Amino acid sequence: MSLYASASGTKPDPTGRPASEDGYRLWLRYDRIPEEAQRQRYLAQIGALVVSGDSPTLAIARAELAQGLSGLLGVALPVEPEVTHGGALVAGTPRSSVWIAALGLGDRLAVVGDEGYLLGTAAHGGLACTYIAANTDVGVLYGAFHFLRLLQTRQPIHALALGTQPRIGLRVLNHWDNLDRTIERGYAGFSVWDWHKLPDYIDPRYRDYARACASIGLNGTLLNNTNASAHMLMEQYLVKVAAMVDLFRPYGLKVFISVRFSSPIELGALDTADPADPAVRAWWKAKVDEVYRHAPDLGGFVVKADSEGQPGPHDYHRTHAEGANMLADALADHGGVLMWRAFVYDHRSADDRHKQAYLEFTPLDGQFRPNVILQVKNGAIDFQPREPFHPLFGAMPRTPLAMEFQLTQEYLGCATHLAYLAPMYKECLDSDTYAHGPGSPVSGVIDGTLDGHTLTAMAAVANIGDDRNWCGHPFAQSNWYAFGRLCWDHTLTSEAIAEEWLRLTFSNDPRFVEAARGMMMASREAVVNYMTPLGLHHLMARGHHYGPGPWVADSWRADWNSVYYHRADAHGLGFDRTASGSNAVAQYHPPLSERFGSLDECPEEFLLWFHHVAWDHRLASGRTLWEELCHRYQVGVDAVRVMQRTWDTLEEFVDPARFEHVQALLRIQEKEARWWRDACVLYFQTFARRPVPAGYEPAEKTLAEYMALQHYFVPGTARPIAQPLE
Ligand code: GCU
Repeated sequence: MSLYASASGTKPDPTGRPASEDGYRLWLRYDRIPEEAQRQRYLAQIGALVVSGDSPTLAIARAELAQGLSGLLGVALPVEPEVTHGGALVAGTPRSSVWIAALGLGDRLAVVGDEGYLLGTAAHGGLACTYIAANTDVGVLYGAFHFLRLLQTRQPIHALALGTQPRIGLRVLNHWDNLDRTIERGYAGFSVWDWHKLPDYIDPRYRDYARACASIGLNGTLLNNTNASAHMLMEQYLVKVAAMVDLFRPYGLKVFISVRFSSPIELGALDTADPADPAVRAWWKAKVDEVYRHAPDLGGFVVKADSEGQPGPHDYHRTHAEGANMLADALADHGGVLMWRAFVYDHRSADDRHKQAYLEFTPLDGQFRPNVILQVKNGAIDFQPREPFHPLFGAMPRTPLAMEFQLTQEYLGCATHLAYLAPMYKECLDSDTYAHGPGSPVSGVIDGTLDGHTLTAMAAVANIGDDRNWCGHPFAQSNWYAFGRLCWDHTLTSEAIAEEWLRLTFSNDPRFVEAARGMMMASREAVVNYMTPLGLHHLMARGHHYGPGPWVADSWRADWNSVYYHRADAHGLGFDRTASGSNAVAQYHPPLSERFGSLDECPEEFLLWFHHVAWDHRLASGRTLWEELCHRYQVGVDAVRVMQRTWDTLEEFVDPARFEHVQALLRIQEKEARWWRDACVLYFQTFARRPVPAGYEPAEKTLAEYMALQHYFVPGTARPIAQPLE
C-alpha cells in the first residue's frame, strides 16, 4: 500500500462537515463507517480475515482487504492463516485456500472463468464464513475490491450470493502520453509516467494507479501516445517498459505499447518499412523477440497507421491487413495481441470523412490474423459530444472489433466542464446495428456474442495526469470509473454507475446521492446543447479544440475545417449524408439507412449530422430549425446553471476543498457555455439572417470579437504552439 493512499484521510471538523480532501484516493476511500449500527452488523459478520497463499497478487488482495476493512470498520481485524472460528472473511482459490477448497464451489466457479469471482456466505464444519472465491488470484483481487465496495456503499452482506465475470476480454486504458511527459489531449497535468527515472525509481503513484485500475476490473494499460515515437522500441526504453510490466503484473494489468510503423527505418537503418520486404519482416521479428526478452508477458502493440500523417502500409501500396499481419506474425510467437486502429481518413480522398474508415476496412474483413483486433472509435468522425455509432460496427463480422472511447474531454470542455460520459458510452453500446436483424447491438459486436469472437476488447483514451486528483475535475474521475465498470458489464445503467461512484467518492447520504446523480445524468446532454446541438459536430477551435470555432475555414486540409462539417449557407445548415449528398447513410444496415436518410424519421439528435436542413424547416417542437438552434444553445447554458444551483445545495455533504473546487469549475463551465452559445448563434445568424427569437439572452460580445479570441498554450496540444497560431 502506498503512503500516498492514506495521505488525505477525513476527520470530521467541528462544523460537522468532512475535512478537506484532495481527491487522490479516488473511489478507494475507506473511512470509518459513521453509522454505528451498520458498522456493528458488518463487524458481527466479519471478525477476522483469512487470505492464505503467498503469491504477489494474493498479498495485494490481503493488504487491500486489511486496509479497507480496518478503515471502514474502525478496528484492525486479525489476519489469520487459517479459519479457527466463525465470522471470518475468507478469500482465495481452491488451490490457495483449503477453506475455499472445502466449500465445494466447483460447479459455480466453473462458470466465472479466469477473471470472475463468487461472493457468498457459507458454513463448513460448524463455522460460518463469508467468502471471496475465484479460479485465479486476480479473480480474488477483483472480488476483494467488489466486497469492499459493498461495505463502502453500505450494502447488506448477510445473504451474499453473487457470481460475476467480465463480458469483455481486454479492458484497456490508452494513455496518449509522450516520453517527455506531455500528454496529447491531456488536461490533468503531465504524464504520471516518469520515464526519465525509470526503471530505478518506481513512483509509489504507479501502484495506486494499478490498484485503481484493478478495483474496477481494468486489465490493460497502453503506456504511450498513439502518435508513437520510435524511441519506445529502443533498448533503453524497453528496460523501463519491463519495469512497468513487472510492477503491474500482480494487479492483473497487462502493458501494451504504441509502435511506429516506420521504426525499421528510424531504428533499423533500413530504407523501407514495406511489410512485404523480407528485411523489414526480419527486423520486426527480431525486435519483437527483443521486446519479449525484456517483457515476456507484454500484452502487445497498438498501431495507428496511415492516419493524420502517421506512416503505414499505404506508403508502400499495401493494405492495412498486410501491414497488421506482419506485426501480428511477429507477436504471435509470444502470445501478443495487435490492436490496429481504424481511425483513418485521408484529406486527399474526395469522399466524406465519415465514410472513409468503412470504405478502407470492410473489403479487408476476414483478412486479419487471429491475434489482430481492429480498434474502432465509437463514432465515425472523432469523439464528438454526440455521434451516431460507427458504421464499422456490424459491418465486419469476420474480424474482432474493439471499442475505443475517449475519457479525456478533448471535445467536451477539457477538465473544466462537468460531463459524466457513461450515458454517451451506453448510447453507443446499446445502439442496434441491425447487422443480423433487430437485436444486434454494438455491445454484441464488441463482446463477441454477435459473431462468435473470443478476442474482445474495449479501450479508452485516459483522462489521467499527475494532478493530485488524477483527472483534473473531481467529477472526471467518474468517467474512468464508469469505463471500467462498463467493460466488466455493459448492461449496467449509467444511473447505477453514477450512484455507486458518488457513494464511494463523496457520501452515502441519499439526499446528496440523488441530487448529485441528477447533475451527472444531465451533464453530457448539457454539453451537447451548448456546443453542438441537433447533430452539429466538429465546431471546435482549430488545433487545440478549446472553445468554439464554427468559422474555421482556413486549414490546408478541408476536413480540419469546421465549415466542412456544418455546411451553413443561406438555405440552411447541416451535412447532407443522404443519397443526395455523400450517402454515408448507406453504410448503415436497414432500417437505419432509411431512418437516418429520411428528414422526417431521422432522430433530431442526428438531424444535422445527416441532413442539410432549411432554416425554416419545422421540428417536433413546432419551432423552426433556426428557432430550435437558438433554443438548444440556451437550454445548454440553463442546464449548467441548474447544475450550479444543485451543487450549491450540497455543501453540507462535501468537504470544503472538493466542494469549492467543483463550484469554481462550474463557474468556468457556465462562462464557457455562454461563450459557446453566443459565438455559435451569432455565427450561424450570418447565414440564417433571422433575428434571435425573443426571450433569449443577448450575446455579450460581437461575432468579430469572438472570432478574434486566441488561446495560447492550451493543455493537451501536443505540438508546441508557435505564436501566432499557424
Ligand atoms: C484526434 C486527436 C488527435 C489524436 C487522434 C487519434 O484527432 O485530436 O490528437 O492523435 O484523434 O485518435 O489518433
